[in-house]
Amino acid sequence: MVATALTTAPALAEDVEVLHWWTSGGEAAALNVLKGDLETQGIGWQDMPVAGGGGEAAMTVLRARVTSGNAPTAVQMLGFDILDWADQGALADLNSVAAEQGWDAVVPEALQAFAKVDGKWVSAPVNVHSTNWVWANKAVLDSNGIAVPTTWDEFAAAVDALSAAGVTPIAHGGQAWQDATVFDAVAMGALGPDGYKAAFIDLDEDALGGDAMKTAFERMEFIRANVDENFSGRDWNLATAMVINGEAGFQMMGDWAKGEFLSAGKTPGDDFLCFRFPGTENQVTFNADQFAMFDQGGTVSAEQAALASAILSPSFQSAFNVVKGSVPARTDVSDADFDACGKQGMKDLAAAAASGNLFGSMAHGHANPASIKNAMYDVITAHFNGEYDAETAVSELVDAVSIAK
Ligand code: BGC
Repeated sequence: MVATALTTAPALAEDVEVLHWWTSGGEAAALNVLKGDLETQGIGWQDMPVAGGGGEAAMTVLRARVTSGNAPTAVQMLGFDILDWADQGALADLNSVAAEQGWDAVVPEALQAFAKVDGKWVSAPVNVHSTNWVWANKAVLDSNGIAVPTTWDEFAAAVDALSAAGVTPIAHGGQAWQDATVFDAVAMGALGPDGYKAAFIDLDEDALGGDAMKTAFERMEFIRANVDENFSGRDWNLATAMVINGEAGFQMMGDWAKGEFLSAGKTPGDDFLCFRFPGTENQVTFNADQFAMFDQGGTVSAEQAALASAILSPSFQSAFNVVKGSVPARTDVSDADFDACGKQGMKDLAAAAASGNLFGSMAHGHANPASIKNAMYDVITAHFNGEYDAETAVSELVDAVSIAK
């Protein structure tokens, strides 16, 4: 994009072209908050949506665009992908905006690790999501006498009760990233925080290949036995809709699922329940959406700076995340406008960060680079689809990671 010399309104002459994967009802509603915010500042929006939860399809399109010398202005991105593009020198330096708004002081350390490279801010964090949540239909639970489970055994008993009552216990979409999202929570429950870190972040072979990992895979088999027969290939938001409509009891999914409940007019506590995956109440596996600005020729453009600045404004962080289901990427935003799940999300995040129990999500690109993440996806999905048993899955995982490293 070439800046045109204009005599009037020179600063924001160009539209921003934004590549993102926010295409579900709840995601689109949140995106509209961003678009609306930019409109009030006279920044035009050119939409470049690439459907596909977790963003793999979006990242493929991005690579093609960059290869053909036509990078979008701003790109929704996660964790290690940001570091990868920064290493390639593709991202604009946002330090001037960051300094003006004091990002260093208000963006949590865990996010800075993926937003700053060699002292240079390279992306603007929009939110913090976390993956170890369960979403439940309250009426379905109530009518089957089920209380919120706090251990794996209680969860398994609740699933059995729903199954006996003829309700689909677990809503799931069989796509690799969704299988991995469920595995994030199940593995955290089975391995505990130290084991999760050792296996997925440090890639320690003993942890990857240990008994607790086998337990995690066995639990995935129980989950697989309790999804409906049409699960394969289903989009995540359609699985959420099954819980919203009372066709299913539970969905294990990141808190973007809350956006779907809200856009369907549902209220937490009355219509649906949110709780941490049993056994992971004190941990948070997070992923943060950020907008990386592609270098359009040396310095950050006025439009990119305006977009970054709008994203980090405290009022936007509140308004956007209330709708998206995530929590603010700044530590100084009030929880006043958030619902009960959002308030819990903010509290959990702060507590996990303080107690050393905040970990990057393996499933959403915050534990390892894409090559290792994808190697893990392959094993998790092959096992989920019954290609091999839990014991084989453990050794396949160790091998896949050692080859990908
Ligand atoms: C993103 C969320 C998005 C979800 C499903 C995650 O990787 O962080 O913002 O809603 O994928 O598309």
